[in-house]
Amino acid sequence: MPQKRVLITYKLSDDVLTPLRDCCELEVWSEDRPMTSVELQSSITNCDGIICFLTDQITVSVLDRAKKLKFISSMSVGVDHIDVGAANDRGIPIGNTPGVLAETTADTAFGLLLASARRISEADRYIREGSWRPELPWSPEFFLGKDVHGAILGVVGLGQTGRAVTRRGKAFDMQVLGWNRTPQEIDSAECVTLSELLRKSDFVSINIAKNSDSTLFFNRERIMSMKKGAILINTSRGGIVDEEALSDALMMGHLAGAGFDVFENEPINLDNRLLKLPNVVLTPHIGSATSATRKNMASLAVRNALAAIDGTQMPFCVNPAVYLAN
Ligand code: GLV
Repeated sequence: MPQKRVLITYKLSDDVLTPLRDCCELEVWSEDRPMTSVELQSSITNCDGIICFLTDQITVSVLDRAKKLKFISSMSVGVDHIDVGAANDRGIPIGNTPGVLAETTADTAFGLLLASARRISEADRYIREGSWRPELPWSPEFFLGKDVHGAILGVVGLGQTGRAVTRRGKAFDMQVLGWNRTPQEIDSAECVTLSELLRKSDFVSINIAKNSDSTLFFNRERIMSMKKGAILINTSRGGIVDEEALSDALMMGHLAGAGFDVFENEPINLDNRLLKLPNVVLTPHIGSATSATRKNMASLAVRNALAAIDGTQMPFCVNPAVYLAN
C-alpha cells in the first residue's frame, strides 16, 4: 500500500516529527515565511493530511484542490483560519491543541494587564529615548498607574484560558467576576451578567473563541458600557473587538488603557490608530509563545495526525460529528 503523504506547513523539530516520519511521507515547508495560498493549493493536492498553523488560510478553494485530504491537524487552539463548514461538508475532521496553551496564554494576558496598569512599556520607552534626565530624576507623580491588587477583574469567556486568568486574578488579590455564554460555576470567579461585568470591572480580559457569534462582540456600545478608566486586555483573537471604537474610547479617556496581543489584521496595519496611543501595550500574537508550550502544541498536533492516519478519531477534534456521518 502506498504511504500516506502529509504536508506540514512549518518546519517542526525532528524529535516531534519522528513518529510521523516512521509511518508516512512528509512534505515539510522549509521557508521561514508561511506558504502563499497558491503554494498551499498546489502542495495540498496530493496530500492525505495537513498539519497547519494559524497563518494558513484553509479556505473552500484550498479544500477544493485537496481531493485526497482526509484530515486537518492545526497547531493552534483557535480554528478560525479554517473553513469548518466546508471541512464538515467534505467529512474532514479538524484537530486542534486545546489545554496545553491555556496557562501560558493566561500569563501573557496577565503580563499585558500589569504592563498596561503600571505603564511599563511607556516607562521603558521613556528611558530608552533619553527622556529620563537629571533635571527631572523623579517626582511623586511620575508614571502614575492603576493598582492591580484590590481592583475588579472581569473575565469574559470561562474556557480553560479564561479560568486560568481568573486564578491569576485571585492570586493578585483582585475581586474576580466572570461571564460565559453558557453559564458556569467556578470557584475562582463570581459569575455575573455581561452588562454587570462590563459596568463594574476595572480590568476586562477577553478569552472567547472567534466565530460568527463573537465577531465584533466588543462593539462600540459594549466598549462604551465599560467602567470609565477601565483597561481592556485581549489575548483571544483579532476581530472580536472593534478597533476603531476602542481607539475612540482610549482617545476620549473613557478607557485608561489596553493590552492587545491579537488584531483584526495580522501583521497589524501600520496606520492602525492603536499604534499612536501611548497607553496601549501591543504584542504580535505571542500568547502561547514559550518553547515548552510550543513543543506541547506540536506534540498534540502530531498525535491528532497519527490518530487520523491510523483511521481512528483524533483525540482533540473540533468537529467530531464528521465521524458519525462517515
Ligand atoms: C493561538 O492563537 C491559538 O489559537 O493557538
